[in-house]
Amino acid sequence: MNETKYQLAVLPGDGIGQEVVTEALRVLDIASNKFGFGLEYTQFDWGSDYYFKNNRMMPDDGLEILQPFDAIFLGAVGHPKIQDHITLNGLLLPIRRQFDQFVCLRPSVLFEGVSSPLKNLGVNEIDLVVIRENTEGEYANVGGFQYKGFPDEIAIQTAVFTRKGTERVIEYAFKLAMDRGRKLTSITKSNAQGYSMVLWDEVFEYVSSRFPKVETESLLIDAACMDFIRRPAEFDVVVASNLFGDILTDIAAMITGGLGLASSGNIAFDQSNPSMFEPTHGSAPDIAGENKANPVAQILTGAMMLSHLGGVQATNAAMSIRNAVKETLKSGKYLTADLGGNRSTKECTDAIISNL
Ligand code: NAI
Ligand code: MG
Repeated sequence: MNETKYQLAVLPGDGIGQEVVTEALRVLDIASNKFGFGLEYTQFDWGSDYYFKNNRMMPDDGLEILQPFDAIFLGAVGHPKIQDHITLNGLLLPIRRQFDQFVCLRPSVLFEGVSSPLKNLGVNEIDLVVIRENTEGEYANVGGFQYKGFPDEIAIQTAVFTRKGTERVIEYAFKLAMDRGRKLTSITKSNAQGYSMVLWDEVFEYVSSRFPKVETESLLIDAACMDFIRRPAEFDVVVASNLFGDILTDIAAMITGGLGLASSGNIAFDQSNPSMFEPTHGSAPDIAGENKANPVAQILTGAMMLSHLGGVQATNAAMSIRNAVKETLKSGKYLTADLGGNRSTKECTDAIISNL
């Protein structure tokens, strides 16, 4: 029998991205072997080194090259000698836009063995997913400057909310809330943003009528920031605009052990386009090249990618990777420095592999 084989475009990128992607691929290889399916990697050296040589982050036809892959597995991009808007606009944002990756999926779980800066939280008491709108909203890149550099300088930045864009992300969140069987929180600011967030609220209300089984609540972004600290255990699925989701997911990462554990996926609306899986963290130049980075975020991101690829074998492999991570964190013996341990990137990965 022919085994299922998935074609993956691998972009390690910069800094610790290269280290943690190498480790995550070791885990993915073992898991796919064990569960009887194939992963074929095509590695691309796009990123800051590529930029220094070619004055661009990826080749002209980079997006066409990526199109046929089943998924894109990315580390991080960013270099202290290149302005961040160049690295971001030269690689990540074009990929998210071209493939219409409308959902940014960011789960946060407080694993046993990881201490939260919040007090009195039990194991698994935080288990939430933020669905962040990923293609429009406040990051639509519409606006301009006038009187540049003069005392009367004006900057205008326009947020773009479409009914279609809002509806499809909210619908995705409702479906996920149905699967998880709990509740959905919508993040708004319609008291102050009387157009965009009013549309958001209306669409949320409209879509909610199609999912009567899902319990819903609506919170203002400022109150939600407070409640992620005050009552994080009460959140399940949370849906937010691009900017609000960006802010909330940093809080969610911090209260569950930090960026070294935070996985993330950019999900394409049309399944014939590749989705892209990348951890929430960046290239961490402060620790790059030292074998110190926590590989868990990238490894959990790999598990998320396998779940997304679907199929029984990949789904089981994803579950097994998540369990191996849980066991490793729980033992407390193989933690990297960001979690208070003294193990290297490789030692932490070895421990996860031995628990697979
Ligand atoms: P960062 O996420 O790279 O690092 C923030 C802090 O967290 C640093 O102290 C770093 O050492 C620590 N950290 C991050 N990931 C870690 C891990 N896996 N294990 C242990 N510690 C970890 O964010 P920063 O410093 O603001 O940005 C650095 C570069 O990365 C910039 O060029 C930025 O533009 C880029 N960046 C790229 C992203 C992406 O590729 N999606 C996302 C965020 C930042
Ligand atoms: Mg962010």
